[in-house]
Amino acid sequence: MYRGELSLTLWALIFINTSETCILRTHITAVEGEPFYLKYCLSSPVHKNETTTIRWYRSNRSQERVELKQGSSPRITLWDYVLEFWPVELDDRGSYFFQMGNYTQQWILNITRRNKHSCFTEKQVTSKIVEVKKVLQITCENSYYQKLINSTSLYKNCKKLPENDKNPSIRKNAEFEDQGFYSCVFSLHRSGKLFTITKTFNITIVEDHSNIVPVLLGPKLNHVEVELGKDVQLNCCALLNKNDVVYWIFEKENGPDPNVHEEEEKKAVTSEGKLHSSRILRIENINENNLNFLYNCTVAGEGGTDTKSFILVKKADMADIPGHIFTRGMIIAILILVAVVCFVIVGVIYRVDLVLFYRHLMGKDETLTGNAYHNAGISYLMLSLRNHIKNH
Ligand SMILES: *[C@@H]1O[C@H](CO)[C@@H](O)[C@H](O)[C@H]1NC(C)=O
Ligand SMILES: *[C@@H]1O[C@H](CO)[C@@H](O)[C@H](O)[C@H]1NC(C)=O
Ligand SMILES: *[C@@H]1O[C@H](CO)[C@@H](O)[C@H](O)[C@H]1NC(C)=O
Ligand SMILES: *[C@@H]1O[C@H](CO)[C@@H](O)[C@H](O)[C@H]1NC(C)=O
Ligand SMILES: *[C@@H]1O[C@H](CO)[C@@H](O)[C@H](O)[C@H]1NC(C)=O
Ligand SMILES: *[C@@H]1O[C@H](CO)[C@@H](O)[C@H](O)[C@H]1NC(C)=O
Ligand SMILES: *[C@@H]1O[C@H](CO)[C@@H](O)[C@H](O)[C@H]1NC(C)=O
Repeated sequence: MYRGELSLTLWALIFINTSETCILRTHITAVEGEPFYLKYCLSSPVHKNETTTIRWYRSNRSQERVELKQGSSPRITLWDYVLEFWPVELDDRGSYFFQMGNYTQQWILNITRRNKHSCFTEKQVTSKIVEVKKVLQITCENSYYQKLINSTSLYKNCKKLPENDKNPSIRKNAEFEDQGFYSCVFSLHRSGKLFTITKTFNITIVEDHSNIVPVLLGPKLNHVEVELGKDVQLNCCALLNKNDVVYWIFEKENGPDPNVHEEEEKKAVTSEGKLHSSRILRIENINENNLNFLYNCTVAGEGGTDTKSFILVKKADMADIPGHIFTRGMIIAILILVAVVCFVIVGVIYRVDLVLFYRHLMGKDETLTGNAYHNAGISYLMLSLRNHIKNH
C-alpha cells in the first residue's frame, strides 16, 4: 500500500518535470555555438525501475547508429531523459534516438550557421502578427535553462532596450513603430564558460482586422478619351478586406465584346497594413461598339459593395492640336481683331483727314523721297490732328 503510493507520486513528478520542457517536434533546427538539449516526452505511463535502461543513439549520413555515452564528447552530457550540448556545433547534424525499454523517440537535428553580421539568425525567428492598438507582449523566458541564466537582455533590431536585466519584457498597446525584430539574449555560465542563447521574435504590426467597408478609389463615373483602333487599360483600384473581391461587368445582352479582357486581381498590403486590390480591364483595338457603354467595376464583400463606371468617348479632333499652340493661335486672332476694330474706329473719327492725307501722300509720291517724304507725312498728320481738336 505504502510502496504503491510512493511510486505513484514519483512517477507523477517525473511526468510533470519532463513534459514541461521536453521536445515533441521531430525536426529541429538549432543555431551553432548555442547550448542545446533534447528531452524525451513521456507519452504514456512508463514504469521506470532500476533495470530499465535508457540509451541514446545518433546516426548521420555517413555512419550507422552509434550509442552516445557520457564523455563520448566533451560537449555532450546525458542523463535520464536529457541530452545536452555545450554548445551544439555544425557537426552535430543528424538523427538522435532515445530508447527506454520498448519506447523510442527520434529527432532529426539540423544546425544553422550563426549570422556573423547580425545579433540574431534570420532563419531562427518566431514570427508574430499583432494588430495595431492590441496588446503587444514580449517576454524573455527560457524555462529549461532558467536556473543557469545570470542575465537577460532585450534588443530591438539589435539595439539594446533599457529594460531591467532580470526579466526584460514588453507589454504595451501596439503601434506601427513597434514593428521589428526583438531578441532576448540569455547569458549563462557553465564550468567557467560563458554561453548565450538568442531567441528572436519577428513582430509585424498590421491594421485592425475588423472588416472595413470596401471602397473603390477614384470618381464614380470616368470618361476616358480613346482613339479607334488603339488599346486602353481601365484600372479599378479598391481598398478592401481579405475575402472581398473586385470584378468587372462588361457583358452586353449578346455576350461580351471579343476584344475586352478582364485581367487577374492583384492584391497588395501597404506599409500601413491596408489591403489594396486592383484589376485591369483591357480593351484592344477599340471599335465603335466599345464607345458610350458603361464598363462597371464592383468591389463586393461582407461589409458592402461599391461600383464605379468607365465610359469610352472618342477623342475630339480639336484636341489633336496641342493645347499651347491652340492658346497662342487664339491670342493672335484676338489681337488682330482688336487691331482691325481700332483701325475702323480711327477711320470713322478721322475719315476726312485720312482721305486728305492719302491724297496728299499720293500727290507727293513722285517728287518726295527719303526723309523729306517721311517728315512731310508726319507733319501733315500732326497738323490735321490739331485742326480736328480745335474744331470740336
Ligand atoms: C523492472 O522492469 C523489468 C522489465 O522492464 C521487469 O521485468 C521487472 O520485474 C521490473 N522490476 C520491478 C521491481 O518492478
Ligand atoms: C557523423 O558522426 C560522427 C560522430 O558520431 C562525426 O564524427 C562525423 O563528423 C559525423 N559526420 C557528419 C557528416 O556529420
Ligand atoms: C515490449 O513490448 C512488448 C509488446 O508490446 C511487451 O510484451 C514487452 O513486455 C515489452 N517489454 C518491455 C521491456 O517493456
Ligand atoms: C538545414 O538548415 C539549412 C539552413 O537553415 C537548410 O539550408 C537545409 O536545407 C536544412 N537541411 C535539412 C536536411 O533540413
Ligand atoms: C517577418 O514576418 C513578416 C510577416 O509575417 C514576413 O513577411 C517576413 O518574411 C518575416 N521575416 C523574417 C526574417 O522571417
Ligand atoms: C553568473 O554566474 C556565474 C556562475 O554561476 C557567476 O560566477 C557570475 O558571477 C554570475 N554573474 C553575474 C553577473 O551574476
Ligand atoms: C453600370 O452601372 C450603372 C450605374 O450604377 C448602371 O446604370 C448600369 O446599368 C451598369 N451597367 C452594366 C452593364 O451593368
